[in-house]
Amino acid sequence: MSLPLLVGLALAGLALVAFFGAVLWINLRRRPARPPEIPAGMRPGPADEVLERGLFERLLGWNVLFVLFFAAWIPALWLREPSQNVADDLDLVSRAVDRGRQWFLPSSPENPFGYGCANCHGMNAEGGTTRFTAPDGELVPNYPVPPLNNVCGGPNTGHPQIKSIEDIRTTIMEGRQPETPMPSWSVRFEGPMSDQQIEDLIRYLVSIQQGVPDDQNVCTNPSAVVAAATPEAGASPTPTGGEASPGAEESPAESPSPTPTPTG
Ligand code: HEC
Repeated sequence: MSLPLLVGLALAGLALVAFFGAVLWINLRRRPARPPEIPAGMRPGPADEVLERGLFERLLGWNVLFVLFFAAWIPALWLREPSQNVADDLDLVSRAVDRGRQWFLPSSPENPFGYGCANCHGMNAEGGTTRFTAPDGELVPNYPVPPLNNVCGGPNTGHPQIKSIEDIRTTIMEGRQPETPMPSWSVRFEGPMSDQQIEDLIRYLVSIQQGVPDDQNVCTNPSAVVAAATPEAGASPTPTGGEASPGAEESPAESPSPTPTPTG
């Protein structure tokens, strides 16, 4: 073999090796990097977690914002609640007082729902007189009717039988017939009025008290009950059952007159 042929063969061999080496190198290098030959529409997309992450984070961000927004109102409402409750109560009381006055006044075209307490007790509950036929048949033309604008004073203002607001309720519900002209007013005692109407009347009476200092007011001051009841305790043994509900069906024996005359 001649030297040029040897060199030529060696060069050719080197070229061959270089060629295949290059082919190998290019294939080994490019294959893994190359995406598979899948049409774009059919290629598997990013995983759900990756895709939803942004969405999730946006939603959670809004959640936090909304929670903070609503949380900010809780103290605002909560701090207003006590005064709001008081205002609601006062509103209910003032409406009850208005209704009570309506029931109290005589029936008229302007006040068709009047029950006429005022016919006996006076237009402003200042007291008055009424005709009365006593149980023995005697006609009393001017039977004295007590004022109610100081009834909460109890014995201190000339109402010996009133020692608590409960006594006022009982008197209105059951009346004091037949010994006196005071009719029964509760439907529970054959009268015309519901419990609510009687509560309204009591609210009204409490609202119009005159000359009754708070320490003597048995309607609004629970300790006044004791103060007023103590001197009278021996005189009148009527037990008043404390905080008894208006529906106390205690004394069915003393059946009141079946026909109260609400509008005189
Ligand atoms: C027919 C007249 C008459 C009417 C109507 C009348 N009352 Fe009387 N009321 C009397 C008389 C009389 C007395 C006093 C009874 C007695 O001597 O114990 C009295 C007593 C009372 C008492 C107790 C007062 C006290 O000093 O013990 C209350 C409370 C009362 N009435 C509320 C009412 C209310 C409320 C109405 C309307 C729903 C009403 N009365 C309607 C005649 C009447």
